Amino acid sequence: MIVANSLTKRYPGGFEALSGVSFRIGAGEMVLITGHSGAGKTTLVKLIASIERPTSGSLVVNGQNLSALRRSAIPYVRRHFGMIFQDQKLLFDRSALDNVMLPLQIVGLPHREAVRRAQAALDKVGLLAREKANPIALSGGEQQRLAIARAVVNRPTVLLADEPTANLDSASAQDIRTLFADFHRVGVTIVVATHDQSWIEHCQGNALRLDHGRVV
Ligand SMILES: Nc1ncnc2c1ncn2[C@@H]1O[C@H](COP(=O)(O)OP(=O)(O)O)[C@@H](O)[C@H]1O
Ligand SMILES: [Mg+2]
Repeated sequence: MIVANSLTKRYPGGFEALSGVSFRIGAGEMVLITGHSGAGKTTLVKLIASIERPTSGSLVVNGQNLSALRRSAIPYVRRHFGMIFQDQKLLFDRSALDNVMLPLQIVGLPHREAVRRAQAALDKVGLLAREKANPIALSGGEQQRLAIARAVVNRPTVLLADEPTANLDSASAQDIRTLFADFHRVGVTIVVATHDQSWIEHCQGNALRLDHGRVV
């Protein structure tokens, strides 16, 4: 499902953030990308999401070689993914429900169906009672759960997240870990970059550990 072969990423300026990274993530697997700060976790997540392109090597997602893809095809590949990134902000000028409905409106789902699906996603993350709230009125953990609802509302086959438990208290972090485990249980492929020690220690899935841009 996600196959990387000798992936290398060199940023402008010449710094090599990933060097010869190869791995295979099967459908329905849960994989944690771990490693020290600066190891290349975020870079790898961005390559998988087609936010950045590899300098060399190949990355195949659902049979499509991302490195050979035309730019115009990238949005279609991204639809396989639900993405939760640290810099992906919620919109504070609209309600929680409207935030979750946005991806459905982009693909043109009829309004009533979009409301129904967005409410189901909010229910899944325990926020249905807060559907009318502005995200600014939600706690950090609730905002992260809202971001997860928005990421899964399109029913992606892969959930891709970068440090989703960072900056959360331990109870909220546990809620987030449990949510990811729930999605894994129903067959969603999970790829999470994290340095969350309790997650790494208790995770059922596999770890892909990076050290200075190499898999160890
Ligand atoms: N846009 C960029 N330009 C130059 N260097 C970058 C860029 N993004 C990340 N890096 C460098 O690449 C290395 C890996 O970064 P990153 O993938 O963010 O690691 P991690 O998420 O594991 O902390 C770091 O040394 C970082 O400074
Ligand atoms: Mg990072």
